[in-house]
Amino acid sequence: MKKIAFFDTKPYDRESFDRLNDGRYEIKYFETRLTAAALPLADGCDAACAFVNAEIDRAVVEGLVKRGIKVLAMRCAGYNNVDFKAAYEAGLTVVRVPAYSPYAVAEHAAALLMTLTRHIHRAAVRTKDFNFSLVGLTGFDLHGKTAGVVGTGKIGRIFADICKGFGMRVLAYDAFPNPTSGLEYVTLDKLLAESDIVSLHCPLLPETKHLINADTLAKAKRGFTLINTSRGGLVDSEALLAALRDGTVGAAGLDVYEEESEWFYEDRSDVTRQNKTLSLLVSLPNVIVTSHQAFLTHEALANIAGTTLKNLDDYFAGAPLENEICYRCLGTGGAAKANCPRRANGRCHRLEGNR
Ligand code: NAI
Repeated sequence: MKKIAFFDTKPYDRESFDRLNDGRYEIKYFETRLTAAALPLADGCDAACAFVNAEIDRAVVEGLVKRGIKVLAMRCAGYNNVDFKAAYEAGLTVVRVPAYSPYAVAEHAAALLMTLTRHIHRAAVRTKDFNFSLVGLTGFDLHGKTAGVVGTGKIGRIFADICKGFGMRVLAYDAFPNPTSGLEYVTLDKLLAESDIVSLHCPLLPETKHLINADTLAKAKRGFTLINTSRGGLVDSEALLAALRDGTVGAAGLDVYEEESEWFYEDRSDVTRQNKTLSLLVSLPNVIVTSHQAFLTHEALANIAGTTLKNLDDYFAGAPLENEICYRCLGTGGAAKANCPRRANGRCHRLEGNR
């Protein structure tokens, strides 16, 4: 039976994977993240499974391959934390779960937005203390406002539909606009200048790092609400903090944070003050931080487990790998993937034995 070294395990992961595995793999669950220091835990395994905050750099890639592991199953959609060049060169196949529930993430973005616009987080704290005052809780209607959606893939388009449901005007920005989406595409500058709320749904890439920074914030509509459920690195946190303080940004709902890997998913209540920017952000009444939980629904967890196990089934059966991410085509699908010069037998990587 093939063995999987499963890193960064939480009780909810284990429950969904055990239910769907049905005994076909021996899954060794580890609480630690996949880092170079954790590699010895993978000894004797045939595959590794990791999550968003793993650090899959060259040392980890080569350490896995040295241990005879030729497949890394990422149980997430984003893949900014994987050194694909190193993976290709070392002969490590990387698969992922491209979509598990875009609804979960888009709905969480909407939940952050609604909570902020109507101060629900503050009202809930007040009423628990039998304080029923409404002073300071005046919100604003979303109806008639403008939403700017940055990144109009699976999640961004669902979020745009939710906004339209509220009666909002929706502006969109994407490096690769989708002509069939029915969305009104504008430049990023125009989107920032005209949007009352801006929600980020593009991947973290070198060209999108700190997309929201002091310069772009200066072009934004004063007092806008920023929602980020995509990746923390899209926002320069220091610049955001300054903009929240001077009123450039009216409120921020952040499910991700650029240095989250040190903090998120764990109880860090004993050491929170060590990250000054994060401490200041969470302390502001007009900021909500959630711990990268937008994906966390029963439906998404079942889809993550099902797709990850299917990816591994396909890998070990030598079948085409629908969800492979490759250094050349980055698994972007469509033409890029079909034309990947390294794609043979439905795989971008050469099949084992052909290396
Ligand atoms: P997707 O791949 O369907 O869509 C991404 C969109 O971003 C595409 O339309 C693409 O053209 C666009 N894009 C690419 N480069 C861009 C650029 N430079 N500027 C503007 N747009 C650009 O991805 P999906 O499924 O909608 O996910 C979006 C992001 O959400 C992921 O990259 C991931 O980081 C994040 N995510 C967060 C989760 C959470 O729990 N908080 C869970 C799942 C995904």
